[in-house]
Amino acid sequence: MRKLFSVACLSLLFVLICAALWYRASTFVPSSPTHAPIHRIQVQTQAPTPSSYSSLRTLGNIHHLLIGTAVNADALQHDSQYRQILADEFSEAVPENSMKMDTVETGPSHYNFTQADALVAFALAHHMTVHGHVLVWANTTIPSWLQHAHFTRQEAMSLLHDYITTMVTRYRHRVTSWDVASEILSPSGSLRPCYWLQMIGPSYIALAFQWAHEADPSAQLYYNDYGIDTPGQKSHQAYVLLSTLLAQHIPITGIGFEMHELGYVLIPEQVISRTLQQFASLGLSVSISELDVSVYPYRGTLQQKVQYQAHVYGEVLRACLSLPQCTSFTMWGFTDRYSWVPQFTHHLDFPLIFDENYQPKPAYYALIHLLS
Ligand code: G3I
Repeated sequence: MRKLFSVACLSLLFVLICAALWYRASTFVPSSPTHAPIHRIQVQTQAPTPSSYSSLRTLGNIHHLLIGTAVNADALQHDSQYRQILADEFSEAVPENSMKMDTVETGPSHYNFTQADALVAFALAHHMTVHGHVLVWANTTIPSWLQHAHFTRQEAMSLLHDYITTMVTRYRHRVTSWDVASEILSPSGSLRPCYWLQMIGPSYIALAFQWAHEADPSAQLYYNDYGIDTPGQKSHQAYVLLSTLLAQHIPITGIGFEMHELGYVLIPEQVISRTLQQFASLGLSVSISELDVSVYPYRGTLQQKVQYQAHVYGEVLRACLSLPQCTSFTMWGFTDRYSWVPQFTHHLDFPLIFDENYQPKPAYYALIHLLS
C-alpha cells in the first residue's frame, strides 16, 4: 500500500513538472536575441465577431481612407480567390508591374496595354480607384531596347514625353492619381544616378510632372520613395526637393511613403506621423504607398513574429489615421503567396496580411480593429 502511494505521488509530481515545462515553452520570449527582441505587444488579433465583421475597404470608407494593394497581373488573370479578396477588401488598386515602362513600351512607340487594361477594367468594375504606378522610376533598369539605343538628349526627352503622355492620356479619368516619379533620391539624399538624369539632367523630374499634368489636369500627381518616413538625410532632401519644385509651381499634389519594412522596425507611430505631417504642411496629400513587413528579422516562434508584425502594421495605420491628409493606406500585395520580398531577400518570409492560403493573419485583424 505504502509503495503504491509513493508511485502515485511520483507520477503526480512528474505530470506537474511536464505541465510547468509546457507552459514555460509556450510563453517563451527570447531574452537575448541575436536579431531583435519581440516585445510583448497587446495587439487585437482575434477574428472580429461575425456581427461586427466588415471589410477593410468598408471600414476605410468611414475614415475617408482608401485601402489599397499592389495587384499581381498573373494572379489577377488566373486566381479566382485572389480576385475575390481583392474586390471584397480593397478600394484602391495599384499595378505592381503592369504599367511600368519595361512592361508596356516593348519598343520605341510600341505599346502593350494588355495587363494594364485588364487591371483598370477589373478595378472599375468593382468600384475601386486606380493609382497609376509608375511613370519614371529611377531605381530600376530601363527597357532593354532603350539600354542599347544611342539617343540624343532631345530624343530622350521626346521618348519620355511620349511615354508619359501616352499612358496618362489613355487612362485619363480612369486612373485618378499617378506615381509620376519614384525613388529618385539615393539613400544619401542626392539625386539617384539613372538613365533620365544622365540623358536629360535634373530637369527630368519637373518635366515628368508637367507632362503628366498636361495629359490629365485632373489627376493627382505623386512623388514616391522609401526611407523618407523617419527623420534623416534622405527625408530632409526629399522635403527640400519638393519644397523647391512646389515653389516653382510644378504640379505635385502628393507624396507616397513606401514603407517596405524589411529590417527590424521599432519606429513608434508618433515619429512616423510627425514626418508625414511635415510633408503634409507643404500642402501635399500623403499616402502609405507600398507597405509590407518582413517577419524575418525577429526571433521567437512564427506565432510571435506575426504578432509583432501585426503591431507594426497597426502603428503605420495609426500614423496615417492621425493625419486628415493621409488619403491612402496601400500595401504591396495582400497575400504572402505573391509577395516580392522572398525573391528580393532570397529567404522565406511572410510580409503581408493574408497567408499563402488566403487566411487572414493577425495583421489583418489588427487593421480591422483599428479601423473599427
Ligand atoms: O514577367 C516576367 C516573366 O515573363 C519572366 O519569366 C520572369 C523571369 O525573371 O520575370 C518576370 O518579370 C518580373 C516581374 O517582377 C513580374 O513578376 C521581373 O523579373 C521582376 O524584376 C519584377 O519585380 C518587380 C520589381 O518591382 C521590379 O519591377 C516586383 O514584382 C515588384 O513588387 C517591385 O515593386 C517595386 C515598386 O515598383 C517600386 N518600389 C519598390 C518595389 C519593390 O522593389
